[in-house]
Amino acid sequence: MRVAVTGASGRLGRALIEALEAAPFTGPKGPIAWSRPEFDLDTLTVESVGALIERDRPELVIHAAAWTDVDGCAKDPALAMRRNATATGLVAEACVGYHAHLAVISTNEVFDGTRTDGQGYGPYDRRNPINAYGASKAEAERLASGAMFEDELMPLAIVRTSWLHGPPGNDFPAKIAAAAIRARAAGEPLRVVGDEIGSPTYAPDVAEAIVELIGEDELCPESELARYHHLVNRGRASRAEWAREVLRATAIDVQVEEVPASTWQRASTPPLWAVLEPTPLPSGEPMRHWRDAFADAVPALLRSLRQG
Ligand SMILES: NC(=O)c1ccc[n+]([C@@H]2O[C@H](COP(=O)([O-])OP(=O)(O)OC[C@H]3O[C@@H](n4cnc5c(N)ncnc54)[C@H](OP(=O)(O)O)[C@@H]3O)[C@@H](O)[C@H]2O)c1
Repeated sequence: MRVAVTGASGRLGRALIEALEAAPFTGPKGPIAWSRPEFDLDTLTVESVGALIERDRPELVIHAAAWTDVDGCAKDPALAMRRNATATGLVAEACVGYHAHLAVISTNEVFDGTRTDGQGYGPYDRRNPINAYGASKAEAERLASGAMFEDELMPLAIVRTSWLHGPPGNDFPAKIAAAAIRARAAGEPLRVVGDEIGSPTYAPDVAEAIVELIGEDELCPESELARYHHLVNRGRASRAEWAREVLRATAIDVQVEEVPASTWQRASTPPLWAVLEPTPLPSGEPMRHWRDAFADAVPALLRSLRQG
């Protein structure tokens, strides 16, 4: 199975390449990494993606590239639509043209976050994004489905995840640790949003889960129109709970003051209930708890703090 990954130098992209390199089904040639500039969301066309597929002959394309700066997307929604939605539609058209299967990586932000029954969003809950990034990703899902089902049915997977962290850092834990060090130096508490709840998820775990699904032919089976997956670490946490876990793991002693998201000035409005209900994996085992996954990320976080 030849697998190509777009956005291969991003957080999830690099985890995917690493997991695919260890997967027996990718064979001696291994996975195909597509990054900028050969794969550029701003300039790609059906033809340019088709040329890459013709050159590298993937049977499956995992489209992980996206403009993930949610506040940037809020400031320029038209650019967000072009980079995240239109480009995904073009990638899907190219996949159809060359009979490649497609997995589109998506997000909890396609949901509005207003669910109040304590359950996570299920794969077939109604998309209702409340910000430009979520709208662009929801439209990406819609355009991919439209293209993949137009003439002939090409297998499609929509893989949603949330609150990703992991190498190369500069993620929520790294930002919290840096902010905590500044707060401690200033003798102030660390203010963290307490009413935004989600599923913190370790990118390498998502990559492993995708590899498991491919290996068992469960990512985008031929027999189905589209398979929706929610790949998140088990459990849930508020931003403040996650921050406390970061402070505990890094031994940074500073008081956390919980503040409501409504008082946090930012361009984008995040969905307050960002919890996804995990979908089953072939092994029958759920992905591990987010606290266990985060423990694996701590050594790299500590190393980066020590290096300043
Ligand atoms: N981060 C999260 O919390 C989260 C949550 C749910 C879903 N997701 C989804 O997961 C996927 C991977 O996200 P991530 O966390 O790995 O994000 P990331 O680290 O920002 O990676 C995004 C990738 O897309 C590439 N990219 C950005 N703009 C591009 C452009 N104009 N042309 C070509 N490539 C471009 C980046 O290339 P460079 O490396 O060259 O910048 C990078 O490789 C995305 O589809 C995202 O929507 C992320």
